[in-house]
Amino acid sequence: MSQPTSSSPLSQDELKTLVGQAALKYVIPGEVVGVGTGSTVNKFIDALATMKDQIKGAVSSSVASSERLQALGIQVFEAADVDRLSVYIDGADEIDPHGNMVKGGGAALTREKIVAAQSKMFVCIADQSKLVDVLGAFPLPVEVIPMATARVIRQFGAIGGSATLRMKDGQALVTDNGQHIVDVTGLKISDPLQFENEVSQWPGVVTVGVFAHQKAQVCLLGTTTGVKTLTF
Ligand code: 5RP
Repeated sequence: MSQPTSSSPLSQDELKTLVGQAALKYVIPGEVVGVGTGSTVNKFIDALATMKDQIKGAVSSSVASSERLQALGIQVFEAADVDRLSVYIDGADEIDPHGNMVKGGGAALTREKIVAAQSKMFVCIADQSKLVDVLGAFPLPVEVIPMATARVIRQFGAIGGSATLRMKDGQALVTDNGQHIVDVTGLKISDPLQFENEVSQWPGVVTVGVFAHQKAQVCLLGTTTGVKTLTF
């Protein structure tokens, strides 16, 4: 476990910086690295800039991450132009003790799943608040084709959830893929693989934010005593 340098408790932001830096050891020199989205990944991108001359570039899961990578001089490749990636590094809204995650708080879940599926290894970087026994404490993001939004909201109601359309600036949020996000509360996802399989079949669902098929192999967890490495 790597140790924090200060004896005072680290803030959530400092924990994110710590795990972002720790993820550098999973980056393979000479290769293209898969890069996720979010405030924790932003710390990783900043750290990655220190070794930008040692990598070919990155495949990114969002417009926001691509812009940050490019601003720091890191070349961004289209996923379709790159073969298999050795590693994908991304955050999570929740991670369970088996490496299953809920993702999509930043509305980038579809591209995140695509890049994760293209990668041999998923390294999750997260602060300790993200570790849960059972998925479902954080609202579950689901990307939906707008025509199906109302029906998908009703369908979650029928299985005991409460789903709402995610808004931004008074309008329905539109993802990088031109779709809606619904956020679902009130569910305990005790069988993430089965849940992901089932909801993925609902007409109009583009991506459900449960990552069980694309679960993490490693989680670098920022704790008050340093970075803890969990392997699954
Ligand atoms: C974006 C994501 C993020 O990885 C997730 O929301 C965690 O973000 P943060 O690092 O800001 O807490 O899934 O769609």
